[in-house]
Amino acid sequence: MKKALFFSTLMGILTAFAGDGEPSNVYFTHDISPNGLMKAYKALNRPLEGKKVAVKISTGEAGNNHYLHPELIGDLVQSLKGDIVECNTAYAGSRMKTKDHRETIEDHGFNAIAKVVIMDEFEETEIPTPKGSVHLKSDLIGAALKNYDGFVILNHFKGHQMGGFGGALKNLSIGCGSSRGKSRIHTAGRTDDLDKMWAKIAETPQADFIESMAEAAGAVVDFMGDRAVYISVMNNISIDCDCNGHPAKPEMADVGILASLDPVALDKACVDLVYASDPEKSASLRERMEKQLGPHILDHAEKLGYGKKTYKLISLDGTNPPSTKRVDINDMKYDPKDLPENWSPIPVGEPNDAYAQYFTGKSYLYSLTKEQVPAFGVTFEPACRNNWHIHKAKTGGGQILICTAGRGFYQEWGKPAVEMTPGITVNIPAGVKHWHGAAPDSWFQHIALEVPGTEQSNEWLEPVDDEAYLKAVNGENETGSKTAVIYFSWSPDGNTRFAAETIAKKVGADLFEITPEKPYSTDFKACCDEANPECYGKKTRAVKPIEGLDLSKYDFVFFGTPNWWGTMAPPLRTFVKENLDALKGKKVCLFQTHGGGGMQRVGEEFEEEIGDAATVLPPKAFTGATIRENVQALEEFATERTNTK
Ligand SMILES: Cc1cc2nc3c(=O)[nH]c(=O)nc-3n(C[C@H](O)[C@H](O)[C@H](O)COP(=O)(O)O)c2cc1C
Repeated sequence: MKKALFFSTLMGILTAFAGDGEPSNVYFTHDISPNGLMKAYKALNRPLEGKKVAVKISTGEAGNNHYLHPELIGDLVQSLKGDIVECNTAYAGSRMKTKDHRETIEDHGFNAIAKVVIMDEFEETEIPTPKGSVHLKSDLIGAALKNYDGFVILNHFKGHQMGGFGGALKNLSIGCGSSRGKSRIHTAGRTDDLDKMWAKIAETPQADFIESMAEAAGAVVDFMGDRAVYISVMNNISIDCDCNGHPAKPEMADVGILASLDPVALDKACVDLVYASDPEKSASLRERMEKQLGPHILDHAEKLGYGKKTYKLISLDGTNPPSTKRVDINDMKYDPKDLPENWSPIPVGEPNDAYAQYFTGKSYLYSLTKEQVPAFGVTFEPACRNNWHIHKAKTGGGQILICTAGRGFYQEWGKPAVEMTPGITVNIPAGVKHWHGAAPDSWFQHIALEVPGTEQSNEWLEPVDDEAYLKAVNGENETGSKTAVIYFSWSPDGNTRFAAETIAKKVGADLFEITPEKPYSTDFKACCDEANPECYGKKTRAVKPIEGLDLSKYDFVFFGTPNWWGTMAPPLRTFVKENLDALKGKKVCLFQTHGGGGMQRVGEEFEEEIGDAATVLPPKAFTGATIRENVQALEEFATERTNTK
């Protein structure tokens, strides 16, 4: 079990209550790819198409391989018909002189994707710093920046030897500064003369340098106004900058891509995500940031008024955004007496001792009614959640959760966790493996309604351990699996669902359920009346889009269906028909559960539907009634098929 470190600085608490009005939006995707970058840009809804666009990046020092590579940024740059823009450096190296810089740019592959302009190749220009600046009255930037009317400030977020970290504000200040401008920033206005720069740096207090970067960045932000977008990629996160020819190896895992119209909020979110990541792996970067007073740039920038440290992180992945706070679940002590008086109209109730064995953390129970439909208020302390469990029933059954206070999550096996805030309702069908509980940093309360049914019982399963819990609530549900299991199941027994779950678990596949837009009647006879003409007419039935499913990620897809009159259930037929293009080039394999008829025509029909879109592996039928006794056969089938060359 991974130990997490509780992180909540006083600064974080203060900023949560500071600032005027709304927090700035910061968009997030885990998808570090050309696609992810486009998605992040589009989320900002500030189209730059048709403008003369400058894309400001760091082209990276010779010997450094951490910079944003042309393969990653090419699609975005080209879709905007943008020029890549850069400035020469103020230190001796492969990018100080234009000629050497051009060679490095060529070596790093940027000429292949766009025209690259060194903005201070011919001249520099002076722009005013924001009102309230205390070190710099003006900023000296590469003059060519003025030739553009659309700007993408595209940052590689990582550590920096002098600034602690480098993100949007550094790219705007040092990155856009001419050589003399860089000298001015580094010395907090003491000299523009490169020859005197290092001597003057020695006399410049670190905080003054950091504040000067904030002032210079503000000058460029003010100059660009609403013509700019800011995007940061958190990959190859070394403690050293791309300007370092021999950077330390990254210790932290890649995080994702963030985008905002507010460069201060963007940098703040990146810094928070460093602090929220694995404490051991981020230790050296945190140390560097703190030692160099890196985060102080955010305080000064906010003071100058061109951005805010308060932000709302919005996921573009259809999941929850990552948590920007670390929690040590085991170290926290909570008391419901500390909750505000009007927290919820439903009382917290008594400690849920009877079920404590099935919970991680403390929960409380309040009985609302025991008549007609039994209903309870369940209150979870922060980070408390129940074990994986299944509500079983012969007919009907399941549970409805209605969030009444706080913030929490509901997760079905194999699916991303769903955030629950007051008013959010979740319908849990019988037979579905799931858990629910509080967010790491919030109490959570829901009403639980027991849906009437016959032969009802609860099956309590394994706890949700800290690692799985934090991954789920942080939206890190990306398993990296190349295999998906996609199924339809109708009966209350969920035979095909059980088969699908078993197969997915065995081969570590991602699991997705097909649900019709209009569900079939839950009554067997009525369902038969609805389904019979569809099956015999080989008709389709409209299905809902599957949340979080991106078929392009997989190279193997299992499909599961019950046998309905010797054919596949119509929702599966619909799904296959609608996704033939997306299945191109993959391996697919059908499994089926039946009531005694065996495979019948189901496999054949599936193969006909797929046609030559994908490679179809031999299908297999399992008897529905004994499916739970056949785990081994299901597992063997799963491994054998996925190992097929
Ligand atoms: C509408 C309908 C038609 C069915 N037709 C057949 C059939 O022709 N042959 C068969 O062996 N089983 C048939 N069955 C039984 C199901 O295939 C079997 O119970 C299956 O395991 C149910 O899967 P599920 O629990 O995932 O819905 C039918 C069931 C239904 C509801």
